Amino acid sequence: MNRPLRMAFVGLGSCLHTMFAPVLRFVEALEVVAVVDRQDDRLAQARDLYGFSNGYHTLEACLDKERLDAALIATPVYEHVAHAVACAERGVHVLLEKPMARTPRECDTIIAAHQKAGTILMIAFMKRFNRSMRTVTQLIEEGAIGSVMGIRHNWDWGPDESGWIDPGWRGSVKTWGGQWQDHGSHSVNLTQWWAGPIRSVIATFDITGPYPEVENDYIVICTHASGARSAHQATRYFHREGEEHYLIFGETGTIETRHASDVWRYTTPHEITLHRYGRLRENHQPQHSRNWLLEGERFGQYKIELDHFVDCVRSGKRPITDGEMGRAAVEVISAAYLSAHEKREVTLPLMQELDYEDFFGNVAPRRTPVQYLKPGQP
Ligand SMILES: NC(=O)c1ccc[n+]([C@@H]2O[C@H](COP(=O)([O-])OP(=O)(O)OC[C@H]3O[C@@H](n4cnc5c(N)ncnc54)[C@H](O)[C@@H]3O)[C@@H](O)[C@H]2O)c1
Repeated sequence: MNRPLRMAFVGLGSCLHTMFAPVLRFVEALEVVAVVDRQDDRLAQARDLYGFSNGYHTLEACLDKERLDAALIATPVYEHVAHAVACAERGVHVLLEKPMARTPRECDTIIAAHQKAGTILMIAFMKRFNRSMRTVTQLIEEGAIGSVMGIRHNWDWGPDESGWIDPGWRGSVKTWGGQWQDHGSHSVNLTQWWAGPIRSVIATFDITGPYPEVENDYIVICTHASGARSAHQATRYFHREGEEHYLIFGETGTIETRHASDVWRYTTPHEITLHRYGRLRENHQPQHSRNWLLEGERFGQYKIELDHFVDCVRSGKRPITDGEMGRAAVEVISAAYLSAHEKREVTLPLMQELDYEDFFGNVAPRRTPVQYLKPGQP
């Protein structure tokens, strides 16, 4: 197939605006021929901003009418299984946003549908295409810190950070998961990359503030098959701008990588420092050309992710971030909720499924009154 891929963009929210729209101009092998959103104003906005005039309120209507090669699914997590399966049934290749789905069982349904259809299923773990994260992986693979013994990760947001005063669908129990499911899907995937498969999980969750029905505060400890441990934490008691931070402890050195402030400014590389005994530090942060367009074209993680998706569709090769990888992260996420529910360490493979509505209804939230002040309020 030499012509551009005919793709539908499904779900016209932050994914479209902050992640993909800025880099679509660099992906000539792909054309957005239709957009789908249940909200009129979202369809109108996509038309006015990007000229995507071919809009539908439902994916089904779009699939009925359009001749599509592919769909990028960026709807809330509880819609993923229905949308990804509907595409497979029409022979449409899918790039599916993370988290792949709410449970391993939903992931199995998606994988089976795409296997049956012979279509490409790729999970949008864009951090695997991020040059800072790739630099970290390269350092580990080159033996810069010896074996990975542990990883400490935090991804915190202050209470007034964007969208968290009222978290919208992300705070709804329909998701069967909160911030751990959302951000943990990235951190689990990265720690699986750096320290190998996860064998067991122990976790605790809290709900803080008046709105969310699901956790927005967590501590999760994973033991990897290698014996390494990774600790994942997010808190709302972070009275400053958001931060994504990883410390990777090896036998002979520690890699520290952090992205302060607005992590969505993805053309700014993460800081990467290699620490050694004697307080020695090496700076491995990738260079930034200071030209936004050049950075987006060469290194934009979502651009490289789209290129890989197009390549897989055209060549039939298996995506680096395939359905099995998506499922592996979801299994760990689900195991953590079960661990908190049963107050015990949960060993994988996960054989049990939680009643999530019951779990979140009884998560014993502290509901501590974090000060939900509006920005600028004294
Ligand atoms: N990889 C990343 O960096 C990243 C960043 C943000 C979000 N995400 C993921 O992308 C997905 C969407 O997140 P978002 O922040 O863009 O959400 P959002 O709320 O900003 O946008 C979601 C859109 O989907 C629409 N929608 C909901 N149900 C629909 C349905 N049944 N049919 C059609 N449209 C429907 C909503 O109207 C909304 O416009 C989630 O899976 C999220 O985890 C990934």
